[in-house]
Amino acid sequence: MADITNIDKSKLPKHVAIIMDGNGRWAKQKGKLRIFGHQNGVQSVRDATEAATELGIQFLTLYAFSTENWNRPQSEVDALMELLVSTIHKEVNTLNKNQIKLAAIGDIKSLPKNCQAELADAIQQTSKNKRLTLVLALSYSSKWEIIKAVKEISEKVKSKELSVADINEDLFSNFLCTNKIPDPELLIRTSGELRISNFLLWQIAYSELYFTEKLWPDFRKEDFFDAILAYQNRERRFGKTSEQVKGN
Ligand code: IPE
Ligand code: IPE
Ligand code: MG
Repeated sequence: MADITNIDKSKLPKHVAIIMDGNGRWAKQKGKLRIFGHQNGVQSVRDATEAATELGIQFLTLYAFSTENWNRPQSEVDALMELLVSTIHKEVNTLNKNQIKLAAIGDIKSLPKNCQAELADAIQQTSKNKRLTLVLALSYSSKWEIIKAVKEISEKVKSKELSVADINEDLFSNFLCTNKIPDPELLIRTSGELRISNFLLWQIAYSELYFTEKLWPDFRKEDFFDAILAYQNRERRFGKTSEQVKGN
């Protein structure tokens, strides 16, 4: 297991994204209801956030609720929304104490009104913090985000604010929810599932992927450090040869 001293602070990713998965299975293994897993996942959110802050990582994006998750039983959706509201409410002071700025991506207007209000309040209260930006992906799906960008760009072309020739990767990125956030260099998924589940498809074009069997409620700071260490041992070639990357 890695600890913080094993990590090369000069080779940190700027942005780490996490698909927090396995809460339901964790609860089931303990003979409990799925919501018990979600409740225990909150400590893992704290651990990952603290680990990222201690290292000096600038952005941490957590996939907390996907567009597809609306299709879960209504009782689970309701419980997740309540957990979100109560957690944000409880954690605002800690976020401020640790200089963490909260942000959100996704179809925020589709969230229950009290949830939107709590979120807006926490975003506003933490807006001046400069250490880590903690981005919650809520009612998020990458295909939704891409279609939204295409529609907005099309409208601007129609009104002649933009021409077709203006459309390039940078411009397109500016129309995504992540417009002010660099692409994640590292994407972590817990619980042993080897898929992306409609998360940041455009932004992870060249991310390093790290999968761990750990279920999310068991994910601790050391697991975050393990992922960073694994990332630091990858050779990121971006299409070049290994010799080119090493500079010979
Ligand atoms: C991740 O855990 C949390 C959310 C998707 C909200 P799951 O609830 O997906 O847990 P499993 O995958 O069923 O174990
Ligand atoms: C992905 O997990 C979404 C979140 C972690 C919020 P899911 O558990 O919903 O994904 P699938 O259904 O296994 O692909
Ligand atoms: Mg799951």
